[in-house]
Amino acid sequence: MNLLLLNGPNLNLLGTRQPDIYGHETLADIEAATRAHAELRGAMLEAFQTNHEGEMLERIHAARGVADAIIINPAAWSHTSVALLDALNVFDGRVAEVHLSNIHKREAFRHHSYVSARADAVLAGMGAFGYRAAVDWLLA
Ligand code: DQA
Repeated sequence: MNLLLLNGPNLNLLGTRQPDIYGHETLADIEAATRAHAELRGAMLEAFQTNHEGEMLERIHAARGVADAIIINPAAWSHTSVALLDALNVFDGRVAEVHLSNIHKREAFRHHSYVSARADAVLAGMGAFGYRAAVDWLLA
C-alpha cells in the first residue's frame, strides 16, 4: 500500500509553533515516526509539506492512480479551501484528515472543515499520534 502524507501551511514550523497547542515534535520527527510506523506494517509512505495551496493541489492531482490513500493535515486550508476539497474529490483512494489539536474545542472558525466533506475518517486532538492512528486505520 502506498500512503501519501500531506501537511499544509505553517506545519513546517512544528516544534516551535505554539507548542502548547501543537506539541514539541518537529514535522521531520512526525514524518519519520509515521513512515516508520507504516513501513513496520508493510506499507510505503511518502511525505510532502507546502505553504503554497497550488502546490498542494498539484501534489494531490499527481497522486491519482499512484497513492492508495492520503493522510492530510490541511491546517488552515481546512477552514477556507473549497479548491482543496475539489482536488480531494477527484482522488479515488481513502482520505484520512488529521488535526493535531481538537479543532472543535477551539475558536468557532476552526469548527468547520471543508475537507471533512470528503474525508473518510477524521482524527483530531490526538497530537502526533493521530497520524499513526490514521495509518493503522487505513491498513486495517
Ligand atoms: C491544525 C488546526 C488548524 O485549525 C490550524 O490552522 C493548523 C493546524 C491542527 O493540526 O490542529 O494549522 O490543522
